[in-house]
Amino acid sequence: MKQKVEQLIADRRGYDGADIIFTMNSAAQKRAATGASVINATVGALLDDDGKLVALSTIMETYRQLTPMEIAPYAPIAGDPAYLLALTQRHWPSLSSYGMGVATPGGTGALALSLRNLLQPGDRLLTASPYWGPYATLALENRVGLYTAPYPAPNGAIDVDAWSELAEEILRAQGRLVLWLNDPCHNPTGRSLSAANRHALMQMLRDLSSVGPITLLLDFAYLDYARDQHAVREALDDYATFGAEGSVLVGATLSISKAFTLYGARGGALVFPWCTDHALFNALSTSCRGTYSNCARAPMSVMNRVAASSALQSQLAQEHAHWSAVLTRRATALDASLRAEGLAGQSWDGGFFIMIDADDPFAVSDRLMEEGVFVVPTEHGLRVGVCGLRELDAPRFAAAIRKCGGPIPGVA
Ligand SMILES: Cc1ncc(COP(=O)(O)O)c(C=O)c1O
Repeated sequence: MKQKVEQLIADRRGYDGADIIFTMNSAAQKRAATGASVINATVGALLDDDGKLVALSTIMETYRQLTPMEIAPYAPIAGDPAYLLALTQRHWPSLSSYGMGVATPGGTGALALSLRNLLQPGDRLLTASPYWGPYATLALENRVGLYTAPYPAPNGAIDVDAWSELAEEILRAQGRLVLWLNDPCHNPTGRSLSAANRHALMQMLRDLSSVGPITLLLDFAYLDYARDQHAVREALDDYATFGAEGSVLVGATLSISKAFTLYGARGGALVFPWCTDHALFNALSTSCRGTYSNCARAPMSVMNRVAASSALQSQLAQEHAHWSAVLTRRATALDASLRAEGLAGQSWDGGFFIMIDADDPFAVSDRLMEEGVFVVPTEHGLRVGVCGLRELDAPRFAAAIRKCGGPIPGVA
């Protein structure tokens, strides 16, 4: 018999508990099980052209070789320092220290810890819109409000005035500012900030840093899957220069979920490579202890083995290059197919997604389902996982988008 759980506190009632991404994915899988021909672009994991999850063989082989002592013991509460350094150096190879940092369960854990330690309950967090949906859940769970400024349009200039106005208002109201920036390889647009936009944003933060303490937290999830690795390198180098300058506290949420296709291993880190204040480390490691104690040892051991072997690193780089090329072909085919249907195309710089505009994304998504096409509707448009969309399916996908109400240039 269903009973109301009186024990559940009032504040925690009223959630529907559903995650739109997982709901849409299971709807697609259910339909496919009936034998229907389905395009499932809901998933946030890399699939091959047979729809099977990609598990990078360099990583899987390394994982298989782990000894009991690389798996079984507790890891240090704040994470194995060798792992933290290796993970940081994957992003900034010339750094000799990760500064202040801790291991976290995935990038998600790092995002959560940043809120616990850098904002007060009731404060406001700033990010770009559109954003990865769980940002809102993370804000809610950590009792902060999520406020957004617009992500620039393709080839457009960032609206610095909008960013600056909101950032300054928040900074003056609460005496501090935290900005989560998912760049390069933004989820869900699949784009990266241009150098000009990146510099404009950093200058805006630099200008405001005299008003109060600012944290720029770079949320890196998809950097290994980009059209142009040189552009990614350039962005990271820019952020490193900005971090070293010290006007703003620059940190990063790091993750091996996509980088190593170890989604289920929950490996990540929150690092502030240019910070030397141990108070930050003490606070973060206390959060670790008071939240999950320590993270899994085995993924740290995999990272350490990869870091110690240039052969493994070059094998892994080859696998990343292969899948980046696959994603590039998929995104290019999708762009061309949308244009062939008379729709606006979609550029892609990196990551697992692109975003398609729609007047009423939820209604369009319902109609797409009737065509056997599954995407994730959001208030900003349709999130399309190029990580799971075969190049071959791009024409059918684009035709369904046109039929079901995607935007036609020139028509309001
Ligand atoms: C933008 C963004 N940030 C962070 C994450 C964190 O992923 P994980 O917690 O698996 O490391 C994801 C995963 O999808 C993401 O898309």
